[in-house]
Amino acid sequence: MNVSAIQKQELLQAACAIRQEAYAPYSNYKVGAAILTADGRIFTGVNVENSSYGLCNCAERTAVFKMVTEGIQKLYAVAVCTENGGSPCGACRQVLSEFGGDVPILLTDTKGNVRETTLYTLLPDHFGPEHLV
Ligand code: THU
Repeated sequence: MNVSAIQKQELLQAACAIRQEAYAPYSNYKVGAAILTADGRIFTGVNVENSSYGLCNCAERTAVFKMVTEGIQKLYAVAVCTENGGSPCGACRQVLSEFGGDVPILLTDTKGNVRETTLYTLLPDHFGPEHLV
């Protein structure tokens, strides 16, 4: 799917808006994520931390789980908003790759700087369902 400049802008805005809802009292590193689906819908997510630190969930995975819960299993672009333009962690890259190909990944910070990359750039030689046959 060709993702338009307007859709990318909407995705970035959604990621930064939802970031306010992050629950990150331990790291104080709030993350907002937004995922674009084929019908133009946007699913958002935030990081949700826990006093038992190992139970923290990243924003990207929160957004993926919301999307799948609503019956959609394909994503076409992802935006992530952090204080300093941080990139998705390895676990989130792998989870995103389950539902998307070499999709655009837009990274932005609270100053509005944007860096665009792709999922396969972030996760080359990824593990996929084809390895399970
Ligand atoms: N975090 C995310 O939400 N996404 C990532 O891809 C990297 C890290 C969160 C987890 C934790 O709540 C905080 O950022 C600091 O690691």
